[in-house]
Amino acid sequence: MTDQNGTIESHPLQHGEEVEVYPPSDEFRAQANVRDSSVYWQAAQDPEAYWAERARQLKWSKPFTEILDWSNPPFAKWFADGELNVAANCLDRHVAAGLGDRVAIHFEGEPGDTRTLSYAELTHEVKRAANMLTSLGVSAGDRVAIYMPMIPEAVIAMLAVARLGAAHSVVFGGFSAESLRARIDDAQAELVITADGGYRKGRVSALKPTVDDALALDTGTPLSVERVLVVQRGGNEVVMQEGRDLWWHEEITAFDGQHEAKGFPSENPLFILYTSGTTGKPKGILHTSGGYLTQVSATHSDVFDLKPETDVYWCTADIGWITGHSYVVYGPLANGATQVIYEGTPETPDWGRWWSIIQKYGVSIFYTAPTAIRACMKVGRQVPEQYDLSSIRVLGSVGEPINPEAWRWYHEVIGGGKAPIVDTWWQTETGAIMIAPLPGLTGLKPGSAQVPQPGITATIVDEQGERVGHGQGGLLVVQRPWPSMVRTVWGDDQRFIDTYWAKFGDQYFAGDGARFDDDGDIWLLGRVDDVLNVSGHRLSTAEIESALVEHHAVAESAVVGAHDDTTGQAVVAFVILKSQQTLLAPEQAEVELKQHVAAHIGAIARPRRVLVVSELPKTRSGKIMRRLLKDVAEGKEVGDTTTLADTKVMSTIQDQLRAG
Ligand code: WTA
Repeated sequence: MTDQNGTIESHPLQHGEEVEVYPPSDEFRAQANVRDSSVYWQAAQDPEAYWAERARQLKWSKPFTEILDWSNPPFAKWFADGELNVAANCLDRHVAAGLGDRVAIHFEGEPGDTRTLSYAELTHEVKRAANMLTSLGVSAGDRVAIYMPMIPEAVIAMLAVARLGAAHSVVFGGFSAESLRARIDDAQAELVITADGGYRKGRVSALKPTVDDALALDTGTPLSVERVLVVQRGGNEVVMQEGRDLWWHEEITAFDGQHEAKGFPSENPLFILYTSGTTGKPKGILHTSGGYLTQVSATHSDVFDLKPETDVYWCTADIGWITGHSYVVYGPLANGATQVIYEGTPETPDWGRWWSIIQKYGVSIFYTAPTAIRACMKVGRQVPEQYDLSSIRVLGSVGEPINPEAWRWYHEVIGGGKAPIVDTWWQTETGAIMIAPLPGLTGLKPGSAQVPQPGITATIVDEQGERVGHGQGGLLVVQRPWPSMVRTVWGDDQRFIDTYWAKFGDQYFAGDGARFDDDGDIWLLGRVDDVLNVSGHRLSTAEIESALVEHHAVAESAVVGAHDDTTGQAVVAFVILKSQQTLLAPEQAEVELKQHVAAHIGAIARPRRVLVVSELPKTRSGKIMRRLLKDVAEGKEVGDTTTLADTKVMSTIQDQLRAG
């Protein structure tokens, strides 16, 4: 297959299927940060030396002499005898290099207000905030919860916490009071930094009131929080509790910008970020300092081909997710990039908003999720076509597999048919990009994340842990420790071992299915466990199921992720109502239970459908066969039912759904 320019080659994908390949243009290759493919084999020969060299590009207050300590697997230590200050690497270092006037953040609020922060200004604000946090008792080893909209203070708060050697736990602003409190309790956070509210879809969504509710819950765990610091943003009415709550803008006036950053050990905790697992309780993924910063900065530079002097970078992720941590805060700022931060949603006030921002700031690198691309595709190309997007030179995708159709649209309509797309596979646990093309080297294949980064040994294995051949599928693993890897599950080493290492011993089990094509490129196939991926956000079936059975009317529930054209997957819940219950009429059940889940976990977990059934398909040992329910939810032919305890259950369910 070739396009009009004849630049697209065709490659056999597998068994005769053809996929087009987009090689880098000569022009792009000539200017690329990484343009010599020997980097792969050189890094492979000595990955530790490779990462040590990347680490030395950071500023260490005490240089490391050790690289990797894997003497106690799976607990890795990287650069353990070195010391650095993560925030100073993102700020002071650039100012000291004479780059203080470079724009760090072009902030665009949803209502249209803007703010520009240079590296000097951002550094000044972070120093003041660090002094303010010190006065509130925050010091190295503490945890601070952050529950904020996408405003500069969110970034300032994260960096101020990091500057003090404390760890932040950012909780996405869409999570409920209950979810927030569970995370506060688990991390034993002493301070919460929040805002009155933030702008979303033209309205102020309240945050401080949710914090109040979270702190008022009786969870059986004594409240660890002593103070709540509130940024004024939404202007919504909030109640300030005397002795506990403080306004950021009032407190900060007492502090100047004098603050000396101390070095902390490389393995000092930088943050905890909670992510959904296969049980009801979210896992606190712990990341530390030196290795994390090394890999996020290296990949941010290589994969996006960042030219910090000229590029304007924009990643649309919220800081509540790992992408916001690694590719809004730490990667770009460590690299001295100029970036856009936008508070709101892509459709506010209309679907042209993102494209107008790209035009306004001359965004040259744009990183977003397939679900957003598909939503824009649905609206139609006539919207982005009204804007000048010619500044774009690299596009990125993250969070879920990008279907080739969306890839091509993104490439053509947003990338003008020339900007390479880097499809980046990674996880909260990996901390940084693991599998992705390098835009100056890789011939791109729509739908495939393709190649492990230099220094990363990700591969695909069968159930026995043996590497599968080209053209074959299996489970994605990482074979050697990498610098930005999860160090443990906060407070639960055993869960860390059980979740990621028990299956294959010495290989990290990612939980994703994948296959090699005939060229050896990696195609991700989605989760193989009970984790859902809705709009690129991870949700646990178990967590939603347990929220459902907490409802007084629900006896049993089973949740599946059904295919959805826009969001990738959508939550579909099957519930059995209690036989004696009179509180909930079946016709109200769907509405009420959707609302119930949203209130318990957060709006992102709201089911698309809640189907009331009289039975659930179970094996003889009582395990719910979600696979069969997924078939029903997707309107497919129901698969093999022979292992069911009662083989008639599925036809009963289907009859009920048809009747309903
Ligand atoms: C999925 C997001 C295919 C995958 C950075 C992984 C992807 C989970 C891709 C992690 C991609 C992420 N192609 N699948 N490019 N990127 N995933 O922790 O299932 O929110 O395990 O991290 O998203 O989601 P998480």
